[in-house]
Amino acid sequence: MKYEPTRESVDQHPVPQWFNDAKFGIFIHWGLYSVPGWAYSEKGKSIRDIHEETDEFTGQTYNPYAEWYQNTLRIEGSPTQAFHAETYGKDFPYSGFQEIFEKESQKMDPKAWAELFRKAGAKYVVMVTKHHDGYCLWPSENKNPKQPEYQSKRDLVGELTDAVRAEGMKMGLYYSGILDWTFKKGPMNSAMRWVDHYIASDEYAAYSLAQTEELIHRYHPAVLWNDMGYPAQCDLNALFADYYNTVPEGVISERWTQRSLDGRTLEEYVSELEKKGEVTRTEGESRGDYTCPEYVDITSVPAKKWESCRGIGMAFGYNRNEDPANFMTGKDVIWSLADMVSKNGNLLLNVGPCADGTIQEEQIRPLLETGEWLAVNGDAIYGTTYWTEKQEDVTAEGKKVCYTRKGDVLNAIVLDDAHGKEVTIPGLQIPADAKVTVYGTAGTPEYRMENGGLTVCLPEEMGKTSAYTIRIEGFFKD
Ligand code: GLC
Repeated sequence: MKYEPTRESVDQHPVPQWFNDAKFGIFIHWGLYSVPGWAYSEKGKSIRDIHEETDEFTGQTYNPYAEWYQNTLRIEGSPTQAFHAETYGKDFPYSGFQEIFEKESQKMDPKAWAELFRKAGAKYVVMVTKHHDGYCLWPSENKNPKQPEYQSKRDLVGELTDAVRAEGMKMGLYYSGILDWTFKKGPMNSAMRWVDHYIASDEYAAYSLAQTEELIHRYHPAVLWNDMGYPAQCDLNALFADYYNTVPEGVISERWTQRSLDGRTLEEYVSELEKKGEVTRTEGESRGDYTCPEYVDITSVPAKKWESCRGIGMAFGYNRNEDPANFMTGKDVIWSLADMVSKNGNLLLNVGPCADGTIQEEQIRPLLETGEWLAVNGDAIYGTTYWTEKQEDVTAEGKKVCYTRKGDVLNAIVLDDAHGKEVTIPGLQIPADAKVTVYGTAGTPEYRMENGGLTVCLPEEMGKTSAYTIRIEGFFKD
């Protein structure tokens, strides 16, 4: 289908089947912020917790996102400001990290990254090409009008794209469309009133659009992942149509809010939004093929396809100060993935490499554990859809069950890392001719229907696992 540059045409774009089937991707936040690699961190507290427990200003001062280093550094009294002064000297400019990053990043081995992501069981990768600091990880033909050399001479985007595709995965690209701290110098010290930091100039709009188009035509990304919003001057219908026509299997995430003050003061703009009940955060506009909630729990099946993104810790960029308790274990990743897939979601799990491309052990371990589990249970994840009648259950032993469907098969993924000899799912009635197996074991386990529920005797050979899957073939007759 050829898409026209109209809202009616581009809104017809379906979510490509590969994206529905893929379920698990790897996000990569790597750039100048990886040199200091530091942010405030509090045990068990995500950015949302910190914002909800404090206020819109404190939340920015104690921002746990290490990739926001430059902005947090600009906020008087922030912990990042203290760390920076102590480590680099208070007068060391953020742009000074460019020379260090370009030296360190020479050591990055894209093939090693791609192999790790494949071993993790990921089916796609989304790499940050330009984050809010404005530094480009590829030698862009569209140079930054404010800082023309603020870009990598080494084509880090192109090299990782080639390596990821060579490992059989799809490659997506992230671009920070509306925030660029080379254009706007003041700190974003409020977690709500972002629109005042949108770059409103025509010069920036032309730059942002030219780079987005360059990324599309140069790398043909399977995922176009824009963040924080997009210049109000740009015709998104034309951009989306061009992308879909250039990358037929392409998919677009949601964060394209186009807002401008249009001559109003920020207060006038915000009070108008608040009267309309609109939040002033940027993710509100859900254009694109799917939504991308971040550090939030999704408890039911949303109307649109969705992809949850989060770090393995509480940051996207590498954070040497991350509280050790904040790192997800393999079990955490597996349980999150099963839960999200049962509700029609994907998980985009972020890896934050160090400046030299090394990835800390606390991030590698859960990736490999997830890959080992998927090697046994992957058929209950990849290529499945959700069970429209019921997405989850609780066993008689009190363990959560996440359901997925593939054809006439119902998969019951039991989130239990200390299983006993048998498991009962009350209320789960299966057809008499159904075939019950447990992934990773041979033959048919003993099972019985009693009191309207299913009890399965778990095969000895199952051994210790973070979760296990009961496969019920012939469950669906429709
Ligand atoms: C938020 C953060 C940004 C991060 C993105 C990833 O927009 O501000 O740092 O890159 O989420 O989802």
